[in-house]
Parts: sequence; C-alpha cells; structure tokens
Amino acid sequence: MGSRVLERLDALLAENRRGGGEDRIERQHAAGKLTARERVELLLDQGTFEEVDALVTHRCTDFGMERKKVPGDGVVCGHGRVDGRPVFVFAQDFTVFGGSLSEANAAKICKIMDLAMKVGAPVIGLNDSGGARIQEGVASLAGYADIFLRNTLASGVIPQISAVMGPCAGGAVYSPAITDFIFMVENTSYMFVTGPDVIRTVTHEEVTMEKLGGAVTHNSVSGVAHFAAASDADCLAKIRRLLSYLPSNNAEKPPVAPCDDPLDRETPELDGVVPEDPNKPYDIRKVIRAAADGGELFEVHEQFARNIVVGFIRIGGRPVGVVANQPAHLAGVLDIDSSTKGARFVRFCDAFNIPLWIVEDVPGFLPGTAQEWGGIIRNGAKLLYALAEATVPKVTVITRKAYGGAYCVMGSKHIRTDLNFAFPTAEIAVMGPQGAVNILYRREIAEAEDPEAERARLIAEYQEKFANPFVAAEKGYIDEVIRPHVLRRKLVAAFSALEGKRDWMPTKKHGNIPL
Ligand code: HXC
Repeated sequence: MGSRVLERLDALLAENRRGGGEDRIERQHAAGKLTARERVELLLDQGTFEEVDALVTHRCTDFGMERKKVPGDGVVCGHGRVDGRPVFVFAQDFTVFGGSLSEANAAKICKIMDLAMKVGAPVIGLNDSGGARIQEGVASLAGYADIFLRNTLASGVIPQISAVMGPCAGGAVYSPAITDFIFMVENTSYMFVTGPDVIRTVTHEEVTMEKLGGAVTHNSVSGVAHFAAASDADCLAKIRRLLSYLPSNNAEKPPVAPCDDPLDRETPELDGVVPEDPNKPYDIRKVIRAAADGGELFEVHEQFARNIVVGFIRIGGRPVGVVANQPAHLAGVLDIDSSTKGARFVRFCDAFNIPLWIVEDVPGFLPGTAQEWGGIIRNGAKLLYALAEATVPKVTVITRKAYGGAYCVMGSKHIRTDLNFAFPTAEIAVMGPQGAVNILYRREIAEAEDPEAERARLIAEYQEKFANPFVAAEKGYIDEVIRPHVLRRKLVAAFSALEGKRDWMPTKKHGNIPL
C-alpha cells in the first residue's frame, strides 16, 4: 500500500515537472523563452527552490476540462533564496493551458503572497499567461481580483517585483501594475489592456503587438515598465541585482554590502564637471558614479523621462536612492513624466527605509500647452508631495541651477531635507538671469542709449547677486558650500550621521497625494 502511494506521488510529481509536455516546451524554447521551472531555478540561489502546491489541479468540469488536468495547474509556486535571503515566487507556465489563470491557480498565487506577507519577504511574479482561464469564467476573474487585493495590501510592506516574460493582457496587467517594479524581456513579452485586433476595430489604428506593448514601448514611451532585459536569463539576473539593494520588508533596513572603496576617496574628476557656460549640458551620472561605491549606479526607468535619473547606489556599503535632474536631456527640466517617475521612486525608497540623495540642476518646469493641459500642475505636485512626505534621511546637492518652484521641489531645506549642500557653481534664484532682467528692467532697457549693452550690464549684475550659493547659505538654506572633489567624503559623513534619523507624520488614515 505504502509503496503504491509513493509510486503515485512520483508519477504525479513527474507529471507536474513535465508541464504541458515536450512539444509545448520545445515551442516555448523555440520562441526564445525558458520554461517557468527553468526561470525559477535561474532566479534563485542554486538548489534553494522549494515548491508548494505541486499537486494542485483545477476544478473545472466544463468544456471537457475534467479530462485535462496537469498537477500544478499552470503555475509554479514556492520559496527559495536570493543571496541567502528568503523570497517567495510564482511563475506562470505557458505550456499548461497557456499559463491561463484558473481559480485553483489563483489560490496558489494568493497562498504564496499570504506567506510572504506573514514572513516579511519579497514576492516575485514571473508572468507568462494567456490571461483569465476562459473555461472557468467568473471564477477566474475572482482569482484575479483576489490577487489585486493582495498586491494592494502588500504595497509598502514587502517589495513586489513583476517580470513580464510572455503575454500579459487585459485586466491581468493590473497585478504587475500595482507592484513596485516591472521587468520586461525584449521581443518575447508584451502588455496591453486591449490588443491590436480590438484597437483596429475601435479606432482603426494599425499597430503590432511589439509596438503597442513590447518592452521597448513600455520602457521608453509609456513608463509602465522599469527595466528591459535582452533575454530571460538577463531579466532574472537583473531582478537579483535589484533585490540586493532592498530590505526584505518595511520594518528592516536595506542590506549592507562589503565596501572596499575608501570612504575618504576624493573625487577630483568632478572639479571641472559642471561647465562654466550655464547652458552647456553634462551627464549628471558622472557626478553620481563618482560618489558611489565602486562607481556603480543601478538605474531604474533608465529609458523613460531621461531628464531625471533615478536609481540605486551604495555609499559606504549602504544602499541609497538617487533622484537627479539630468542636464544632458532637455536641460534637466521637470515635466509630467519626470515628475511622476521621480515621485514613484521616492515613495518606494521612503516606504522601504532607503535614504535619498537628491542631485539638483534644474532650470524649472517645462513650458507649453502640452504640459499645462496634460496636467503639469497635478503631476509636478506628485514629486513635491513625495519628497516632502518622505521621512528617510534626505541629502540634497545642488550642482548648478536651482530655479523657481523646482528649487522648492528638488529636496529644498524647506521640505525637511536634512542636509543641503551646494557646489560653488550653484545658481539659486527665482529664475535665470535673462528672464529676470527682461521682467524687472524692460522699461530701463528700452529707454537706454544702448539697450543691448544695458541688458548685458543688468544680467551681469543679477548674476553677481544670485548666480551663486551664497544668499541661500547666508540664510542657512544651504548647510555647506562644498568643493566637488570632497563630494564622496561629504556624502559618507552625511548618510552615516543620519543613520538613526527619526521623523514624524501627523496621525492620519493616509494622505491624498495628487494622482
Ligand atoms: C484558456 C488558453 C488561454 C486562456 C491560451 N490558452 N489562452 N486557455 N484560457 N485565456 C491555451 C490555448 O488554447 C493553447 O492550448 C495554449 O494555451 C497556447 O495558446 P496558443 O494560442 O496556441 O499560443 P500563441 O499562439 O502563442 O498565442 C498566445 C495568446 C493566445 C496570444 C495568449 O493564446 C490568446 O490570444 N489567448 C487568449 C487571450 C485572452 O483573450 N485572454 C483573456 C483576456 S481577458 P493548447 O492546448 O492548444 O496548447 C483577461 C481578463 C483578466 O485575461 C481579468 C482581470 C480583471
């Protein structure tokens, strides 16, 4: 009897491992994709995967489904380790009913999410699915809603990471959308609410799946995805790298890595990094990398709204989230996309105890009807709100321009930034010299004997007064004017001094960030 049970167990587990069978696995490989199980193995530390619910099957009795059952029912769930730390994972298996979500399959995912919440460990979802299991009707939709609820409740408690590694369409996109980070694989994944066929019927637009919702589109145009990967293996390696910066939950501090980069290393390469000409661009990533341990910056949303750079670095081994205007793209101006990109990143860091470094060189908000009508007021407010609300250690460095409202937004002292530094090249003013002189002295310039010479004189006078960090430093809005070559040393000292920071929020159910 005992041996018969064991034989049956072995047979069921073998069936579970075979998934949809050799043919479908071959098709998956031919499409350039790994199977769910191969993906899980690559994601986790070798040999650490423990599967849960391998024997679960669907309960559908319609459409002849009672004769088609595969143990596991199209999703591989369980737990394992990444760099020795526990994580929970689910991977949709496209070889079984197209990875479609059944009632039973959703219950497996929910079980994993509930366990992750109890333990306080990240959840990683590897998505590759034809969507709701059509044969199951509303039971499948209910399964999605059960997952969405858990995504929402887990938000800000444990890191939630989604990889889209195949189809992800219709309402199914909203689970990844609620999670903290979305990875997509180039050429083999897509996400959309309605596909090309529906679009053709409704709006008569012709668009391919890749153009509509592929990795390039969502990384560079819509901003839905945060990372693009060249292959499944690349995607899984990038998820591991991201996790290395994150705490397991919101009650922990982020993990400290060994640091062999000297804490007092000078950064002389930065002394000439900011051009004399205020209109000349430079790459802000040079400043970030110079200060970071080992020159390493792990950018998030790299291809989207490139006028702001966000990402993770380490300072003295401790993870820090960076939010930096990028003068090399659109002069580093704040617009709708860069504001929402920055705000979302700031809120993630704040939720997970990751200190923030704000690097500022911003000429202001982008003018134009497209921006005003698109809601730059509502969207710009997101970044302001997020930075003001954040209670993690906050350090700002102004490298050059800090003009107007953007000065207030980008981690000014007034929105409770802890330490504010400025390079000697900082220009802190209500606006740039040209604009200011034109408004203040229009009549004087028009009436002058030589209007252009008068304009130049007034601009020079304005620059002398405002194009420097001293007025702000006199008022204590800037704590220290620092030479660029001491940047790393100053950041090491600042973040280590702020290590034990505690700040408060008034008691409330939640705030009402302008969405
Ligand atoms: C059940 C499904 C399925 C589904 C695919 N399959 N999608 N079974 N429910 N939703 C099965 C197929 O019958 C097939 O089974 C196998 O999976 C592989 O599918 P193929 O079509 O052969 O693969 P491919 O050509 O690569 O096309 C993949 C696909 C296509 C583009 C995803 O399968 C497709 O359009 N599926 C339906 C997508 C859809 O409309 N889903 C509902 C969306 S609405 P065999 O046995 O032949 O291997 C939704 C709502 C969510 O999801 C609501 C949340 C609120």
